[in-house]
Amino acid sequence: MKAIKIREGLHWVGAVDWDRRLFDALMPLPDGTSYNAYLLQGREKTVLLDAVEPAFAEALLDRLADLGVRRIDYVVSHHAEQDHSGTLPLVLEQFPEAVALCTKRGKGMLQDLLPLPAERLRVVASGETIDLGGRTLEFIEYPWVHWPETMMTYLREEGILFSCDFFGSHLAANRLFFPDRARQLDAARLYWAQIMMPFRRVIGRQFEKLVARPLSLICPSHGPLWDEPAAIVEPYRDWIFAKPKNHAVVAYVSMHDSTRRMVDHLIDALTAEGVGVSRFELSGADVGRLASALVDAATIVIGSPTVLGGLHPAAAYACLLANVLKPKARLAAFVGSHGWAGKAKDDFLRLTPKLQVDVVGAVAAKGAPRAETFAQLDALAKTIAERYATLGEETGGEDGEP
Ligand code: FEO
Repeated sequence: MKAIKIREGLHWVGAVDWDRRLFDALMPLPDGTSYNAYLLQGREKTVLLDAVEPAFAEALLDRLADLGVRRIDYVVSHHAEQDHSGTLPLVLEQFPEAVALCTKRGKGMLQDLLPLPAERLRVVASGETIDLGGRTLEFIEYPWVHWPETMMTYLREEGILFSCDFFGSHLAANRLFFPDRARQLDAARLYWAQIMMPFRRVIGRQFEKLVARPLSLICPSHGPLWDEPAAIVEPYRDWIFAKPKNHAVVAYVSMHDSTRRMVDHLIDALTAEGVGVSRFELSGADVGRLASALVDAATIVIGSPTVLGGLHPAAAYACLLANVLKPKARLAAFVGSHGWAGKAKDDFLRLTPKLQVDVVGAVAAKGAPRAETFAQLDALAKTIAERYATLGEETGGEDGEP
């Protein structure tokens, strides 16, 4: 397997995982993924930035061999998660002069996860630099993108940011510079929603300082590179800081059509009020797409019948997911039908304690919806539109360590 040249003395030596369809046994990967590793050579020193998922060790070693690499001085370990660090023990074994560079917290986590001798790991501080001979690497500790030990590396002379999972996407491709910018951005948004969004507030604290550096190229650890950094910096700025949009994510499940009819009516009413809608039928919904829709929606509506004394499990799963992803929604509502006791709403509230939303309404129907149900749904749509108009800008807020 061959290395791919990015610039003189900078090559991609990673792996493309075309066939992977699930990450963390949770996230759908419709387009596979890649594990990016980069070899950077100065006049005096050679650095490998990240390794790859252990199943792809051969690809990494092949590409290094293709470049004729005999000595690596440093291996930068931005992140201890195994898709980037799992091959580190093998790399250190194959290149006995190499020292792995990581954050203080990274050192502990790498040793928790992998058989790595302490003397082969060196802690670097944020702002510390190393001179490769004509090329200067600066380390930037940036915790919680998306683990607590994460850092990035900045190649000062050329304005290249090696950004770890940040700015990444699960998008397998045989080109480092993807020709379809809209598709790349769609994959990056899916990635943001499922990986970074829960840490939006803590990420926001360092974001402007990070991107104030001159940037000519961003090299993330998954997916294609960004040779026009603004193409991803601006969307990230919007996803982190912008006021949520006048848009409702309506996620529902229906057993005998009553809840579905309520949802249909509510969506018509929201449309008439000028509220955008993304609709998800939860018995078959793609949770990645659901997460992506939550990135900038102001309102979440859950629709579920009461079944066995609570939420339908498909709706419960959507609530759990929204709760842990912590989107920027400010408003929420519940709609649903029940046969004899309307208990589903209680579960909805119990399962979403981390959502910082005002619950602006709940509409229940005993059995099939009737004229008064539809009138209540019209009123709920009006309330959602009116409440959106009163929302202030994002405050940034303060989250403690997740
Ligand atoms: Fe791609 Fe968080 O590892």
